[in-house]
Amino acid sequence: MTLKGRSIVSIGDLSRAEIELIFRCAERFAAQPRGQTHLGRGFQLATLFFEPSTRTRLSFESAMNRLGGAVLTVADGAQSSASKGETLADTARIVSAYADLIVLRHPTEGSARVVADAATVPVINGGDGAHEHPTQTLCDLYTLGQECGKVEGLTVTLYGDLKYGRTVHSLAYGLALFGGRIIFAPADPALAPPAYVLEQLRTVYGVEPEWWDPNSGTPMPTADALYLTRVQKERFTGSTAGARDYPRIDLATLQRWGVADSTILMHPLPRAGELDPNLDQETRSAYFRQAAYGVPVRMAAMALILGIAEEEWASGWGARRSPVPATPATVGSTQQAIEFANPDTCCPNPRCISNREGESVTQQFVLMRLGLISKVRCHYCDAIVRSDELGVPADYTAAQLPQSISLQESALYQPAILAD
Ligand code: NCD
Repeated sequence: MTLKGRSIVSIGDLSRAEIELIFRCAERFAAQPRGQTHLGRGFQLATLFFEPSTRTRLSFESAMNRLGGAVLTVADGAQSSASKGETLADTARIVSAYADLIVLRHPTEGSARVVADAATVPVINGGDGAHEHPTQTLCDLYTLGQECGKVEGLTVTLYGDLKYGRTVHSLAYGLALFGGRIIFAPADPALAPPAYVLEQLRTVYGVEPEWWDPNSGTPMPTADALYLTRVQKERFTGSTAGARDYPRIDLATLQRWGVADSTILMHPLPRAGELDPNLDQETRSAYFRQAAYGVPVRMAAMALILGIAEEEWASGWGARRSPVPATPATVGSTQQAIEFANPDTCCPNPRCISNREGESVTQQFVLMRLGLISKVRCHYCDAIVRSDELGVPADYTAAQLPQSISLQESALYQPAILAD
């Protein structure tokens, strides 16, 4: 197991054991944040941010500075050559010559995979449109571990904009990886998670999430943590245009929902009026601690990717924790993934980078097989194209894929909202 040279585009790019390794390393950095500048001397991090950011960019940059490395930053993508029409793939190739590691944030889904494919240095996805935000999940799982004393087997209610909230998508996979119980609580029916997230949970992780309707008047199922998110209005389109702003969550809301005093309150931040500041002083409110963990967690991820932490790790860091339990057999073990390109078809997601960047991004798909079930997903943004919708047998192979198939967006999964 080594993270050296690896990219993190999806939280699914990491195994459970690798995430635990990052956490043990992060605990070490959290205990001695100022004693690590010898590790990263001579290394350069490039942060390419085409979308606004406070926590993600600054915590990555703080983390690299604390490792003793240097940072090159494009804090506003409009200031880069992208505004002259340079493709993302070309930007990735150029920046690879200037830096040892790239962190990308971009408004287009699948953009981080394009950069990881083109770059010759590792790439970390700092948020690609409404798709994923894997290092936020590392911070979220680390926070759960610190607050609850363990990461495995926790019950977490995910509330708010679950359709466009990329932190929620990555966190759902992360919780599944650790045998967690996931309760989806969309603030509005139009803000339920996209079909591909539910399909990935089923197909890749063997997990069926539960549902709770926060507007139903029924109490929230008992949970270790309630993960709140803001409404992602900047990503709204036709189907979500009518979604309401959420009501402010305050003490009275939590009491009405029957949320226990011991339930940890988390939020990736920023908040946009949906979380009452009067809750900040409560012991259960973990969101500022969650943001602060961004530095040691990102120090750990980068140090392991750059291969500058392995030696110290091998000498016994964090050995006080029990050995990592094996990943459950259902997770990924029976999945076969075959990647293939098909120039005649396009990803069904209009917000995917492969539909935005013209010929610089080849249409590529992944055929996933779990037992007899086959699924095809976009290599970049994970949008699902069901094999039955393609009119091909469930056990087809990549070679048998029709040359020209008309792909349509999968019907959105209509969740049956369940009360506890
Ligand atoms: C989140 C993001 O950018 O996805 N912020 C973060 O990185 N902590 C959440 C959000 O913008 O709502």
